[in-house]
Amino acid sequence: MARSGSEDADRARPAPALVLAGRALLRGRLQPVEIAIDANGRIESVGKVRAGPNRRDVGDAVILPAATDLHVHLREPGGPAGSESIPSGTLEAALGGVTLVGDMPNTSPPVEDREAVESKAARVRGRAAVDVLLYAAATRPGALEGLSRVAGGFKLFLSPTTGIDEVLAPAEVRGRLERLARLGLPVAVHAEAPERFVPGVAGRDPAEWNARRPKVSETVAIDRLLPPPPPLRLHVAHVTHAEPIRRLAEAGLSFEATPHHLLLSERSGRDPRFKVNPPLRSEADRRGLWDAFVRGEIPILASDHAPHPLETKELPFEKAPSGMPGVETMLPLLLARVRAGDLALATLVAATADRPARWLGQSLGRIAPGHRANLLVVDFRQRTRLDARRLHAPCGWTAFEGHEAIFPREHYRDGERIVEDGEYVGRPSGVVVRPEYARGQ
Ligand code: DOR
Ligand code: ZN
Repeated sequence: MARSGSEDADRARPAPALVLAGRALLRGRLQPVEIAIDANGRIESVGKVRAGPNRRDVGDAVILPAATDLHVHLREPGGPAGSESIPSGTLEAALGGVTLVGDMPNTSPPVEDREAVESKAARVRGRAAVDVLLYAAATRPGALEGLSRVAGGFKLFLSPTTGIDEVLAPAEVRGRLERLARLGLPVAVHAEAPERFVPGVAGRDPAEWNARRPKVSETVAIDRLLPPPPPLRLHVAHVTHAEPIRRLAEAGLSFEATPHHLLLSERSGRDPRFKVNPPLRSEADRRGLWDAFVRGEIPILASDHAPHPLETKELPFEKAPSGMPGVETMLPLLLARVRAGDLALATLVAATADRPARWLGQSLGRIAPGHRANLLVVDFRQRTRLDARRLHAPCGWTAFEGHEAIFPREHYRDGERIVEDGEYVGRPSGVVVRPEYARGQ
């Protein structure tokens, strides 16, 4: 009998470079699967696949798409020393199951012109364990056009925070959004309205910090962004409570919640390790945010990884900087919630892999033909408790000490294993990426 054309084509194709067999979420269910990966590190097919010489069977462990964390602060250039760097932060990402990080521009000096983006890109080459997308600060109107050709996204700060002292006046926000709408890049906003801060409150612990930068300052800042001028792709960073969620969704905005706002409240600890912007909220607010996340109403999980040296976090609360590390622990903390039955795996994967990758225009985050084979292997029996001494952040501390976590056992980047038995075995081959939809790419 004559062979069909497609069989001929099948025979002509080279065997997959790697076949990864295990269990994966397909059509909403965990089921046995074989994933064929081609020589370019792309997923070729999913399902029963042709045998190749290189097959890895992970048994009943679960294969997941690796995560994209679209909000981290890697502190280059300018440090301070002992906080973070591109090599250390991307190593933490790789070990925590994150294959792409979006690096924020509030460095010293800030990234606000084309030269600063290019010089940061040069720092990534040969030093990054995972890929990096570089945000530029949308501070200088004259620089925006040039930035839109080299940066991966814009960050707009509506309130002062680490490294940012001057911000746009409320009346200027709309005009800036309209300019950004013409440039084609995604825009992330730190949405707090400083005129709603309460200066009389000293801010000596997380509860006072919450009272000083109250929820209403966030809601007012979010309202300032609505409706976004089309075709702007607007994303609100670190939403801390559930009240604005409906309005954000109805206005078509993207937004994120962080593991710390989902899992910690103003009562979780009193020392400056628990000081962040925007602040940790009340237990009732935390619960409301968590319930919304579990219902799938929060599209994206991002760490706002913002380490500071321990010496500065040992200062009196009012003087200590805001921010905590999180890129290494984001997925492991939430995988433990899945194991505990508090959260659906599909909800977590959508919020950590599929949606953030789509937002940044990357063919990542899905186990589907044509996507990059950036994958994790997770064994849900491998539970541990977080211990800062075993984490890789140079700052040496975590606000999640003792929390249950499940780290990925393996991490593949373009089909190549970069984490094996929880140890980094890769080489620093991470590159700078821009959204595939961006102009001039
Ligand atoms: O807590 C925070 N830390 N919030 C921010 O907005 C900035 C960040 C940092 O860079 O330290
Ligand atoms: Zn941040």
